[in-house]
Amino acid sequence: MAGNTTLTIIKPDAFGAGKAGKIVALLEEKGFTIKAARVMQLTKAQAGEFYAIHRERPFYAELVQFMTSGPCMPMVLEKASAVSALRDAIGATDPAEAAAGTVRKLYAESKGRNAIHASDSDENAQREARFFFAETELLWG
Ligand code: CMP
Repeated sequence: MAGNTTLTIIKPDAFGAGKAGKIVALLEEKGFTIKAARVMQLTKAQAGEFYAIHRERPFYAELVQFMTSGPCMPMVLEKASAVSALRDAIGATDPAEAAAGTVRKLYAESKGRNAIHASDSDENAQREARFFFAETELLWG
């Protein structure tokens, strides 16, 4: 059965543009509940580890540079079938291909500066939630 939590990050482009509130409002309107949240600026080591799966990709250095360029806002969100529901809500990686009304269609600039991250599987959602939040911060609710 699909899990009911996932991990999102409002990325430095959207956070820096003052869009965090609008994005949170949109996600809440779509039925997500915030279970944990923080504002932080990732170090190069943290961003490199978080995106280690993309280490061999040509955009890896650019991705790490971008994700460390300013504050971001990781959150654990809850909803039935959270991983697929959030991916639907944020839209395609490339905002040019994202459906109307999705976060990326509304707020992303490009494939790289794409406003928001969402876990791609239940397994990664658990791993990514623990990357940002201590076990004790995830126990409630
Ligand atoms: P995200 O969902 O956080 O996971 C991997 C990220 O890599 C993706 O969002 C984009 O920010 C980034 N990415 C994917 N493809 C490209 C690309 N072609 N150029 C730059 N960044 C990319």
